[in-house]
Amino acid sequence: HQEPRRSSDRMGLLPLITSTLLFSCKASHPLLFKQEMVDLIFTNLPSADVERNTNVALRCKAEVLTSGTEALNRVYTVYKGESVIYNKTTSSSEDLLYRLPQARVSNNGKYKCAITIMGKAKTSEAATLTVTGMSTPVLRINKANVTEGESVTATCLAQGETGSLLFSFHDNSKEVENGEWLTSSRLTFVPKGVGNHNIHCSYLVLNMPYPSKSQQSNTVTLAVEGTLDLFIVLKISPHDNVYEGDTLNITCSVSNSTKDYFTSLRPFHISRCFQRMCDKLFVLNLSTELFSVPTLRVSAVEVFQEDEISLTCRSEKLSYDRLEGESLTYSLEPFDYHMVRKGNGVFVGKAKTIDFNYTCTAAAKGIKKKSNVLTIHPKVPVSTPKIWVSGSAILGRKVVIFCLSDTGTPPITYTLWKASKQNQITVVHEFNKAANFTVVINETGRLNHYLCTASNGDRTPELSHKLQTAVVEPMTIASLMVVPDVGDISEGHSVILICSFLGTPPVTVKWFRDSDDLNPLETTTTNSNNTNYEFVVNREHTDNYYCRAENRANSVESNKINVVVGMAMWKKLLIPGTIILVVSSLVMMGFILFTRSRRGRDIYSPPETQATYIFK
Ligand SMILES: *[C@@H]1O[C@H](CO)[C@@H](O)[C@H](O)[C@H]1NC(C)=O
Ligand SMILES: *[C@@H]1O[C@H](CO)[C@@H](O)[C@H](O)[C@H]1NC(C)=O
Ligand SMILES: *[C@@H]1O[C@H](CO)[C@@H](O)[C@H](O)[C@H]1NC(C)=O
Ligand SMILES: *[C@@H]1O[C@H](CO)[C@@H](O)[C@H](O)[C@H]1NC(C)=O
Ligand SMILES: *[C@@H]1O[C@H](CO)[C@@H](O)[C@H](O)[C@H]1NC(C)=O
Ligand SMILES: *[C@@H]1O[C@H](CO)[C@@H](O)[C@H](O)[C@H]1NC(C)=O
Ligand SMILES: *[C@@H]1O[C@H](CO)[C@@H](O)[C@H](O)[C@H]1NC(C)=O
Ligand SMILES: *[C@@H]1O[C@H](CO)[C@@H](O)[C@H](O)[C@H]1NC(C)=O
Ligand SMILES: *[C@@H]1O[C@H](CO)[C@@H](O)[C@H](O)[C@H]1NC(C)=O
Repeated sequence: HQEPRRSSDRMGLLPLITSTLLFSCKASHPLLFKQEMVDLIFTNLPSADVERNTNVALRCKAEVLTSGTEALNRVYTVYKGESVIYNKTTSSSEDLLYRLPQARVSNNGKYKCAITIMGKAKTSEAATLTVTGMSTPVLRINKANVTEGESVTATCLAQGETGSLLFSFHDNSKEVENGEWLTSSRLTFVPKGVGNHNIHCSYLVLNMPYPSKSQQSNTVTLAVEGTLDLFIVLKISPHDNVYEGDTLNITCSVSNSTKDYFTSLRPFHISRCFQRMCDKLFVLNLSTELFSVPTLRVSAVEVFQEDEISLTCRSEKLSYDRLEGESLTYSLEPFDYHMVRKGNGVFVGKAKTIDFNYTCTAAAKGIKKKSNVLTIHPKVPVSTPKIWVSGSAILGRKVVIFCLSDTGTPPITYTLWKASKQNQITVVHEFNKAANFTVVINETGRLNHYLCTASNGDRTPELSHKLQTAVVEPMTIASLMVVPDVGDISEGHSVILICSFLGTPPVTVKWFRDSDDLNPLETTTTNSNNTNYEFVVNREHTDNYYCRAENRANSVESNKINVVVGMAMWKKLLIPGTIILVVSSLVMMGFILFTRSRRGRDIYSPPETQATYIFK
């Protein structure tokens, strides 16, 4: 934004300068001198094209006509291009000589001269000076041999050259760009790449408007040595379509060394790399297997001790064309003479009684591959199971039936069968633990339609015996009878209380009388369905009697019987005799009294206590 304003300011100055000149013209004397011409010539030269080192002089010649004798001050100005390169003020009328000793390319250009007298200037025509020939630069390098990565310093000398010089260095004809300038002619740089580097330099004389380019310097050869690794040459043949088992020739050589480190090896593993070389050089990728890692399998899912088993070892993938008809051979480890080879890769024999690990190896063309570890866990077969119940098997109630095989590898599956129908199944995972089944008993007699089976594999299950437990029927009825009949019981006689009952023996029977139902009169245990209690009664035994029958299931009480103990027979007989005696006595006494009253009124009265003997 300021630029236009400034230029308008300059425009404003012009009229002022013009008016000043006009004024000075008017104020000065009438013309005192006249500058006829100014000429510039190169002295002593046939032409303005000169060789380097020529001594050149410029003569500035002015013809000045003066009207007076007074010496005028002359100002000479020499221009190269538009720049003033020399001023001289003199009162002499001699020509000005401007010397360019030993001219150089840097002196090339258009020269002019001007003379100014009393502010009045006259300028010569331009004369062009062309100097040919530049000094050939000389290259020097501080080292002759370097190792890769090391820097060198190159110096380019332009002897006797003047002016502004611009140097450049070339390494194998490519300009060095990534160097560090120490001075305008010294460069430090790192040569790129191993081998010989031919280095030269040149320079430019920055002469406006046409810079001049020097010739190439001498060429210096710099040897750049690589570090040892970079000189290693690894050759592998063949390097593709390699199968494991193939022979590879690998040569490792140091370049320009006559010694080869040769090795021939067979790669056994995919993508195996060779020692330290692989990280610097390459990884050999062997993607093709000759045969795959074998798999070892056993014939049965479950193996019992001493079972016949067969082990099969097999490589699933084979490269038939590379095997060239050779077949894989399989071997079993550890060697076991019980396992007999039956065909290639099949081994038949009896299972051991303990856990056992097998592996197998497939081999061909010198390559061996080992299989997975196959662990055989031979099972102990189940023994014949035992069956039993806990406690009593009571009709109508639950009972727990147990089933156990003393030996057998868990898990064992126990099945309860009732009359050849599967009833319940349970799996026991612990060793030597019985299975339990809860059933409700609804049949009398024996539980002999129950049995159980045990199984721990795909073998025929082992059968138990039939359960032999008798069913306990609860006591249902108890009834009491008395012999003799209730009416015929009298003191001194023997009474038999007969308690009959229904329920599984052994039955414990207790007899009670109502007046003391805590203390049984008698306790008997019997296997029969009735039992007696016999005792001799007296009249205190008159009471209600009952019995209680009890077995493993429950107890029941009988009906009650009222036993009334009657008087003894002799007593019964005694009473009528007594009455007769008394009556006859009374009659006798009455007769006596009657006869006596007629004779003296004498009366006899019998003792009253005797009347208490009368049966109530
Ligand atoms: C020439 O003279 C002028 C004024 O007298 C001065 O400004 C200039 O610097 C001089 N140039 C040289 C190259 O001496
Ligand atoms: C540089 O290497 C050359 C062989 O390449 C050898 O002859 C010369 O002696 C070496 N110079 C130095 C300074 O190591
Ligand atoms: C490997 O080297 C041996 C001996 O130098 C040569 O006989 C064989 O042909 C070479 N094999 C390959 C695949 O280069
Ligand atoms: C190795 O020797 C060959 C000639 O046998 C040569 O052309 C090459 O330049 C040498 N290489 C190096 C790095 O010295
Ligand atoms: C090697 O080859 C396999 C199969 O061709 C490929 O998946 C794998 O990337 C390769 N590895 C290298 C390091 O080249
Ligand atoms: C079988 O091999 C397994 C590991 O694979 C090991 O834990 C076990 O102890 C071995 N058994 C026998 C009987 O050698
Ligand atoms: C019956 O077996 C079950 C599970 O198998 C167990 O939890 C329970 O304690 C067993 N009962 C008896 C009486 O053994
Ligand atoms: C016992 O019960 C089973 C069913 O739980 C039934 O089939 C059978 O007839 C019953 N037996 C008796 C004697 O009630
Ligand atoms: C008691 O057992 C006998 C045989 O020992 C039998 O004849 C009688 O019927 C049974 N009485 C009852 C009530 O079951």
